[in-house]
Amino acid sequence: MEKLNPLKKIFNKFYYELFIENFKEKVVYDFPQDYFRWDLIDYLIKKYDYKDYLEIGCDRDQLFSRIKLKNKIGVDPYSGGNVRKTSDDFFLENNKSFDLVFIDGLHTYAQVKKDILNSVKFLNTNGIILVHDCLPDTMSKQAVPRYKMQWNGDVWKAIVDLRQNPDLDIYTCEMDQGIGIIKKRNNTSILKLSTEIEKLKFKDYFNNYKEYMRVINLDEFKKKF
Ligand SMILES: C[S@@+](CC[C@H](N)C(=O)[O-])C[C@H]1O[C@@H](n2cnc3c(N)ncnc32)[C@H](O)[C@@H]1O
Repeated sequence: MEKLNPLKKIFNKFYYELFIENFKEKVVYDFPQDYFRWDLIDYLIKKYDYKDYLEIGCDRDQLFSRIKLKNKIGVDPYSGGNVRKTSDDFFLENNKSFDLVFIDGLHTYAQVKKDILNSVKFLNTNGIILVHDCLPDTMSKQAVPRYKMQWNGDVWKAIVDLRQNPDLDIYTCEMDQGIGIIKKRNNTSILKLSTEIEKLKFKDYFNNYKEYMRVINLDEFKKKF
């Protein structure tokens, strides 16, 4: 996990609050306290008999070590997994395809969007892409540049952006920091945005996140997938 320089943290906080946004309200989610990303992945692996797993961003293998598949690849430039590369470098040379991709690398809008679109290229028919950290509860946890240790980044913007894509069907499950679910098929609910992604603020997210992210709870997820 990236170490944050204390001076940089203070600078980034002031910069963000002064020049980008200063919005204090907090979203209250109903995340299950006994069901986590590894449980969701285990559910999908069993239900669809998935064999090939890719994880982008592994840290200390908190998730990667729990994946009960022989064919698993974990990509991280610094720690964990079994491929020591950035996701961009990995996709440049990759020729394998996957049933399940878990995206949890660099949590910035542009990088997550790139990770999603690259994953789509290598996704098997009937495969699923999951994206971690889609539901931040405060402005500070999603601020880029980062100044909080506990950080979701602006992953949510990548979901909002791609909810407009006619060829991707996307939901977000209200659990474990918010998990985006992406299927390569016709978009059954195309989002119509009146603001450019770059101009969206946390305040917009706060007021519209259920629609923007197409939020479903775990029971709804299990009925749909
Ligand atoms: C939040 S951690 C991953 C946690 C893990 N997936 C889990 O479920 O507990 C994010 C990881 O992304 C890695 N990372 C940062 N930039 C990356 C990049 N460009 N490509 C792939 N991984 C990256 C970091 O080194 C860090 O280990």
